[in-house]
Amino acid sequence: MKVLMLNGSPKARGNTGLALEEIGKQLEREGVEYEIFQLGGAPVRDCIGCGQCTEAGCVFDDDGVNAFIAKAKEADGFVFGTPVYYAHPSGRILSFLDRVFFSSSELFAHKPGAAVAIARRAGTTASFDVLNKYFGISEMPVAGSTYWNIAHGRRPGEVELDEEGLRTMRNLARNLAWMLKCFEAGDRAGIPRPETEEGPATNFIR
Ligand SMILES: Cc1cc2nc3c(=O)[nH]c(=O)nc-3n(C[C@H](O)[C@H](O)[C@H](O)COP(=O)(O)O)c2cc1C
Repeated sequence: MKVLMLNGSPKARGNTGLALEEIGKQLEREGVEYEIFQLGGAPVRDCIGCGQCTEAGCVFDDDGVNAFIAKAKEADGFVFGTPVYYAHPSGRILSFLDRVFFSSSELFAHKPGAAVAIARRAGTTASFDVLNKYFGISEMPVAGSTYWNIAHGRRPGEVELDEEGLRTMRNLARNLAWMLKCFEAGDRAGIPRPETEEGPATNFIR
């Protein structure tokens, strides 16, 4: 079992990266592998709604989106972490995830996910809510913790001082690992993952 995490900060080991590492360490204690995919500081395109999505994901292949999609095919669960910028998730993680989900949301169905938001002071729950929207529209069960999945820090490393924040990350990892084990046990017992009913999209009501 493997959890694929996404760090929406340009800093690999800033506060968001460290919070994800805390989740990863606990996942390993629970017997679950993890990988943290780093967005880094390179430019990330927005989705332009061109509808040219391919089997591999996005038609634009000059950033990490399609590499992430390839890894998502093999992953059993997900954690998306973001620093808070002006009370919302980083622009880069939204541009990235819009293209991942617009082209490949079916890869995520029936696999659990969790969002994490890190701030100096404010905007965490709004950012957490935004990232959770990807899960709700993609048939993804959401893992919870003992608080909303937030922690605080300004300069890189300060999140290590947020005792409750790190405990929230560890409890999130425990719950996510438990969900993954339950789903795997269900698969082994022959309980199929649910079928999805397809139909026309009704964009307005007459
Ligand atoms: C452009 C920008 C906007 C920010 N806006 C907020 C904000 O609205 N609220 C807040 O509490 N912190 C804000 N911060 C601080 C970061 O959320 C905080 O430093 C966080 O720990 C950075 O995470 P990182 O080290 O993973 O990049 C902002 C930082 C930047 C660079």
